[in-house]
Amino acid sequence: MKFDTPATTNPIDRLAVVGKPTDRIDGPLKTTGTAPYAYERHDVAPDAAYGHVVGAAIAKGRIASIDTSVALASPGVRAVVTARNAGKLDKGRFNTAHLLAGPDIEHYHQAVALVVAETFEQARAAAARVRIEYTRAAGVHDLDQARGSAVEPKDNPDVRVGDFEGAFAAAPVQLDATYRTPDQSHAMMEPHASIAAWDGDKLTLWTSNQMIAWGAGDVARTLGIPRANVRLVSPYIGGGFGSKLFVRADALLAALGAKAAGRPVKVALARPQIFNNTTHRPATIQRIRIGCDRDGRINAIGHESWSGDLPGGGPETATGQTELLYAGANRLTALRLAVLDLPEGNAMRAPGEAPGMMALEVAMDEMADKLGLDPVRFRILNDTQVDPAKPERRFSQRQLVQCLEDGARRFGWDRRARPGTRREGRWWVGMGVASAFRNNLVMKSAARVRLAPGGRLVVETDMTDIGTGSYTVIAQTAAEMLGLPLDRVEVRLGDSDFPVSAGSGGQWGANSATSGVYAACMKLRDDVATRLGLDPARVRFADGQVVDGERSVPLADAAKDGEIVAEDAIEFGDLAKQYQQSTFGAHFVEVGVDAATAEVRIRRMLAVCAAGRILNPKSARSQVIGAMTMGAGAALMESLAVDTRRGFFVNHDLAGYEVPVHADIPHQEVVFLDETDPISSPMKAKGVGELGICGVGAAVANAIHNATGIRVRDYPITLDKLI
Ligand code: MOS
Repeated sequence: MKFDTPATTNPIDRLAVVGKPTDRIDGPLKTTGTAPYAYERHDVAPDAAYGHVVGAAIAKGRIASIDTSVALASPGVRAVVTARNAGKLDKGRFNTAHLLAGPDIEHYHQAVALVVAETFEQARAAAARVRIEYTRAAGVHDLDQARGSAVEPKDNPDVRVGDFEGAFAAAPVQLDATYRTPDQSHAMMEPHASIAAWDGDKLTLWTSNQMIAWGAGDVARTLGIPRANVRLVSPYIGGGFGSKLFVRADALLAALGAKAAGRPVKVALARPQIFNNTTHRPATIQRIRIGCDRDGRINAIGHESWSGDLPGGGPETATGQTELLYAGANRLTALRLAVLDLPEGNAMRAPGEAPGMMALEVAMDEMADKLGLDPVRFRILNDTQVDPAKPERRFSQRQLVQCLEDGARRFGWDRRARPGTRREGRWWVGMGVASAFRNNLVMKSAARVRLAPGGRLVVETDMTDIGTGSYTVIAQTAAEMLGLPLDRVEVRLGDSDFPVSAGSGGQWGANSATSGVYAACMKLRDDVATRLGLDPARVRFADGQVVDGERSVPLADAAKDGEIVAEDAIEFGDLAKQYQQSTFGAHFVEVGVDAATAEVRIRRMLAVCAAGRILNPKSARSQVIGAMTMGAGAALMESLAVDTRRGFFVNHDLAGYEVPVHADIPHQEVVFLDETDPISSPMKAKGVGELGICGVGAAVANAIHNATGIRVRDYPITLDKLI
């Protein structure tokens, strides 16, 4: 099904199941510990051996010599895989660095060997006995040092509108400020883990992966085997945040280990390996210049961002939102990319916008201060309903102003005091605001639906559920389309044998994948109607019945002679080009800052979101709450400490890399504005999972400024920066 004209009324609009707050259908499996995650699939590989990864001890250079003989002779060891015996390996389409290194080393903890043994302990013990001599090469590990040699990235050229420099120089009120965001780690709950089993030349990987088709394709490419010979299975994922968009060393090395050992092998990256072996969100240095007239209208807005990555890598696209969020005739956005010999940078929840908004929305607060304008008012004043660079291009929906106004009212924004003037006992108290913005992407997505005898409906798609609620919104969609209660629908996800979906990334998953299910269900409805001798154009599906005027036939009758199967994909046409599709919101935060110790405590958080139809308000709210929590961590805690001499992240476990816990977040509220977006898809939905994090950090920073009068431009805002 091609989606290239705005959606009109369709079966989803009935909203009997879709749009209702619905418990996760996979919830009981999760809360009882019976959802089988990849590493726990003892059922599929009871005889699996254990692989332990050896990570490189240097950031850059070469392996001078590697001696695996002692490890091989260690108790229980069945195989040792290195680049020398692994055969020819491609780098894959999605990786900047090789998943198995040697002899060249591209980053610290890059995998250099896998030791396979009977038990985990034996594999780990023997891994410590792989003897490697390295020849170290000089590298650059410090963004400040690399910044001078940063270049304009080929795929991300500067964007200029009007005459930014001239307009900025002429502006009566100017802000020129530089912000820093640190390297961050996804730090998801479930480590990267895989079980690999070969059956002849066919490989099955039970793994933890957000994008099944990308993963299966890349495993095939890396190993140099046909795509048809690789099956990826990933029905349950304990968090990804972008870290599992691409297959990592656990999957590749499990496959190589299983081949070498002649039996299934399971590999999990140990927590202390994940931070340097896998990807991270790169640090940024962001310079923002805003020029306003005295009434607070923006005439010039400039945003430049510097980040680094391994050779061949990409920039953190922190300037994207600045192209679209506020009006202003003269604009400049520019990315600069330096070569950094640190672990590979890549997508982490709302790549680009998340750190970009941490800077832009503090700059907006600073500018409002300079103008003597309320920061909510300043943002509203500079709203735009069109792409500022292409005025003919409208937003499909844009309720930023409504989010700000609604949030201000609900939060009690009128009680906000002047900076550094509100004191409650030992606490300085302040409120902060930030806009939220994240683009809405759509991706082709396919699904198969089966109506079984008895009237049960099965949905199959390689879509993943990374803890987001995909199972549930897909079940809701199918139930709505066929007029069934939720418990008559079974959803099967995360298997490369199923039709290729949008996958979970870039907050496109729920809208795109349910649209694919919609397309497949439309086909099934036609088939059902025809079989029942009803008019496909007229029938309604409700309460387990197919209704055509006076006639009402049980849905199950259509399948009484055997299962009916329908498969289709949603393909998105030019609408995504004609209209700018984005999601909007406003974050409000109240903090207390201890007057003696400068300890920051978040007291209240509110997010108001306008993100199309909300398919399941319960799981969408959970998404936004999780994102707000992650944003609080980004504001106050999260930071990978870079050893700039040796080129690695020092705090590589959950003791050293701090993330918020429940006690850090006392009160959160999420409000969704009533919105449907007929431009986005037949579901009229958009994404919320990444919108929720965008702007949170700035709202916290702005609240701290309001509490204390201290402006911190360098995240995370730890107490040493406030004393
Ligand atoms: Mo997201 S960073 O595309 O998982």
